[in-house]
This record gives sequence, structure tokens and C-alpha cells, in this order.
Amino acid sequence: MNADVALLVRSGRIIDPACGVDRVDDLLVAGGVVSRLGPGPLPPGCAIIEARGFILCPGFIDLHCHLREPGFEEKETIATGTLAGARGGFTTLCCMPNTAPPIDSSAAVEQVKAIAAAEGVVRVLPIGCVTRGRAGSGLAPLEEMARAGAAGFSDDGSPVSNSLLMRQALERCRDLGLPVIDHCEDTSLTAGGQINEGEISARLGLRGMPAAAEDIIVARDLALAGLTGGHLHIAHVSTEGSVDLIRRAKDKGINVTAEVTPHHLTLTEEAVVGGGASAKVNPPLRTKKDIRALIQGLREGVIDAVATDHAPHTDAEKRLPFDQSPFGISGLETALGSLMSLVHGGDIDLGTLVASLTSRPARVTGRDDLGTLRPGAPADITIFDPDTEWTVDPAQFASKGKNTPLAGAVLRGRVMATIYGGRLVYRDGSTRVGELERGFASLI
Ligand code: DOR
Repeated sequence: MNADVALLVRSGRIIDPACGVDRVDDLLVAGGVVSRLGPGPLPPGCAIIEARGFILCPGFIDLHCHLREPGFEEKETIATGTLAGARGGFTTLCCMPNTAPPIDSSAAVEQVKAIAAAEGVVRVLPIGCVTRGRAGSGLAPLEEMARAGAAGFSDDGSPVSNSLLMRQALERCRDLGLPVIDHCEDTSLTAGGQINEGEISARLGLRGMPAAAEDIIVARDLALAGLTGGHLHIAHVSTEGSVDLIRRAKDKGINVTAEVTPHHLTLTEEAVVGGGASAKVNPPLRTKKDIRALIQGLREGVIDAVATDHAPHTDAEKRLPFDQSPFGISGLETALGSLMSLVHGGDIDLGTLVASLTSRPARVTGRDDLGTLRPGAPADITIFDPDTEWTVDPAQFASKGKNTPLAGAVLRGRVMATIYGGRLVYRDGSTRVGELERGFASLI
């Protein structure tokens, strides 16, 4: 469907935290932008999507995913990763630079943008490296990459271990108005580590990664953000200690934002007992106590956003012996269903969840045109059914990465359609046309 065709999304429950909207209404899209919320005349030839019984919200923004291109196309490509994003309700994907070669130059940023423009189905915002080659020893050309369109900088997969470089990166990014996104891990404490250090690592005889390894670098980074005034964004927060440190820093007015993944919010270290390497991820899944703190942090806004850290790997890699298998979970297509378990369980309210996937990550990127259904904003829209139950079958993923500890799990909450820039880029196939009363019945 072409973006020039007007589209009415009818009778959905519209939740747009950026505008304080939560009501059942119609939404009209025209010329690729949101044209109107509420009733009114329809342009000739207007297509209609029936969304009664469904939630209609701004397209989700993922601050952190791995699209693997260039260099690791056997794991994912920008084409397959953006399709997976669309299936998961994401219309904006910030992709991490641990590619081969790493995205550490303006040419590399341009290359990702060009592939995304030609082959992607949703918006891709490239993140550039903090250090040259992600090698940790000298800063990458940050200004040049910013001019080419980098949305922030990170050596994700690795921390910026050198404190002086981290300080300099924050200073330069302060002037650029972009975040430095740190993967907080003291690698001297985690070397050889496989899972969280605790009861399970002891029982399984696997080397552990202590929570302190994360907390130490979070504390250092917060000190450097205080010193420089630069925008620090903390990737995949996984510990109670980090949440406490970020809360205190925010209280002091330090320029920090943070994200948490669906897996760290919903799964504990126990998942490796049944799930093996499919649950091997860095930072590792932690404990119930950490999960409680993460949920509380998200509720309070201490943690700003949910980001997937979608990390696709091949089946062959994930079948290797546990200690040789790579870290990572394929997360774009299960994010909403997993997160809705927190809503159904009464841990967070739907408005907070939608904000954590839309207006709040938009604020982290500084893009105030995104994450809202304000008239004039790009028509990036996610339509989901909060109640449909479905069984996770990785074979059905658009992502090449079938690596999920949720295979076979029943999730409640499913993306029914995703609209990007006024175009329908995904529509759930399981709902039969004819179920007009509750279902998504396309009239287009
Ligand atoms: O589990 C992870 N996988 N954590 C990271 O930090 C990197 C990522 C990857 O690139 O596979």
C-alpha cells in the first residue's frame, strides 16, 4: 500500500502518551503523516483498517538492536531485521555498530543508511562506534559520523573501558547533542563468565559474571556524566545496583537515560537451566530481586525505555557447547508479548509500557517528531491486540535469528499491524477476514 493513499484506522483504543491521549477513536493518515484523530470527512479512495478491540499507538522505537550488516549476513541482514522489527511493531530501529567492519566512519554510517533505504521496511538509525574499530584505544571520528547521520555512539558488546576516552566521548557528544551509550561491564571481573554469578552458576559449574561488574562501570560512567554534562545512556540495565545508582544520579540532575530489555524484565538466571544457550545473554539474566528493581525503575521513569537488544545468531553457533556459544537473544518478534505479561500480571500499566516503547525512547534520541501520533508526525503506528494468545515458533520469525529461550512459550498480546510512514508494512496473517467484530479485518 502506497503512502499517498489515505488510510483510516477505525475505532481503536488510541494510546499516545506524548499527547496524553487514551481514548477509543478513529485516526486518519494521509500523505504519510498523521492527519487527524477523531471523526471527520474521509478523502476519496480512503482505505480502512478496522481496529475495534485493539490498541493503536505510535510505532515502537527500539534504541538497541543488532542488524548485523555489514559482515554477519548469515545472522541477520537489514532486510530481515527490519521485517522482524515490523512484525514486532517497531517502526524505528537503532542498530549497533558491532558489525564487520564496525561502523566507525562516516562512510560506514552512509552505507548502513543506503542499505536501509533500499532494503529496509522501517526506519533505521545507525549508532556509530565510540572508539576506532571498537578497539577501545582511540576515539572514532564522532563529529564526522554525526554529520553522516549517526544517532548516538556505542562500543556495544564491549564497554568503553578507558575512563579518559569515556570522558572525552561524553564531552564531544555533549557538543553534538547525541548520547554515548555504554555497555557497562568491568571485563576484569567477567572474563570467561557465562551466566550470572550466583546459586545457578555454582550449581552448574559455570563461571559467573557478578552484578558488581555492571554496577562498577555504571557508577564510573555516572561520575563522568556529572563531570562533563554529556548525555550518558546506559544500555541493557540488569541489576538492582544499577537502578539505585541511576535513580540517585537522576535526583542530582545528571544527564543520564537508561534502557532495559524484555528478557531482563521477565526471565531469571533459571532460564539457562531449561533453555541452555538460548538464554545465554550479556549482561546475563539475573535474579527475581533484580527483576523487581528493574520493574520499579521502569515504573518510576528511572529507566526510560525498553529496548530489545535483539541479538540474532545462527543455529549452528547457538548449538555449540555452552561456553563457546555466543551471547544474545533474538528479541524483536517476542518483545510485545513478553512485556504484556507484566501488564497482565499487574506489574506495570499499559500506558507506562506504551510510553516505554514510544515517547520515552523518542526523547532519548532527541527526535521529537517520533514516538507520537500528533497530527503532522510521521504515520508510524502499531496496532496490537492485548489479549490474543499465541505460541512462539521461531521458525515463523522473519529474523534469521531463531535464538530465543521463549520457543514454545504461550504469550498473550500480539501485534496485528504495523504502519510505517503511512504504509502498511506488516499485517498479522492469522486473523481471518470476516472477523469484523473483534478482529483486524482489512478493507484494503
Ligand atoms: O547478548 C549480547 N549480544 N550482548 C551484547 O552486548 C552483544 C550482543 C551481540 O552482539 O550478540
